Amino acid sequence: MDNRYIGVFDSGLGGLTVVKQLMESMPDENIVYFGDTGRVPYGTRSNDTIIKYVRGDIRFLNTFDIKMIIVACGTASAVALPIIKDENETQIIGVVEPTVKAALSATGNGNIGVIGTNSTIRSGAYEKLIGANPDVHIFSVPCPLFVPLVENGHTNSKAAYLIAREYLEPMVSANIDTLILGCTHYPLLKDIISDIMGDKVKLIEPGIQTAAYVKELLDSKNALSECKNNQQYLYYVSDDVDSFIRLGGLFLQKQICGQVSRIDIERY
Ligand code: DGL
Repeated sequence: MDNRYIGVFDSGLGGLTVVKQLMESMPDENIVYFGDTGRVPYGTRSNDTIIKYVRGDIRFLNTFDIKMIIVACGTASAVALPIIKDENETQIIGVVEPTVKAALSATGNGNIGVIGTNSTIRSGAYEKLIGANPDVHIFSVPCPLFVPLVENGHTNSKAAYLIAREYLEPMVSANIDTLILGCTHYPLLKDIISDIMGDKVKLIEPGIQTAAYVKELLDSKNALSECKNNQQYLYYVSDDVDSFIRLGGLFLQKQICGQVSRIDIERY
């Protein structure tokens, strides 16, 4: 048993789709979340800037009594995690490995699609992890307008549908049977994505797969929490608290309950 916090961070709100799945699959865990709402988006920035931000995010989470860190951001997982993962004593898990693992076991024809931010797709992180495998073909497409659409409440609108159709057209032509949602904002668009791709294409969600991966890992180390009905949820942001509380409910699909505080992330 290990009742220490799981530290989770994202560039802003998207990581709450991972927190939602953590809460559902491991309701006894204590969670401390950092959303870098003052510096979002990460997905349009250079690798150097993303790595610098991620180092600061990790230094902040390391000020808590944590047992592991989850990088609940596709961009930070793809760009920064391969560089910084050995800089820390705390175990750090990103969303790339769990989703790749799930996609490889879900695919029948070996054609796997990946969508994500510009930086995520440019990193080639998914291709690198899968490695040379003659039976698997990766088709990746950046969808840079998905994050602003979601953040502005366009999760089911005509505009979102039209943009998604344009982005996903190459995936439909590539005959993929599995699609990795490589950004933690994208589960909010899954109805539209699924409508365009058709119900034969399996969608691999970062939150669901990462929560399952973490649960298995903690269980294997006998490190699950046993805080029955006494879980603590702490949220920290680098910008306005009220808008995080208001918009965060959309991502968490329930009201944010727990303390929300603002910090100056530039100090870390
Ligand atoms: N949640 C981030 C991700 O998963 C997207 C937002 C951003 O660009 O920072 O990639």
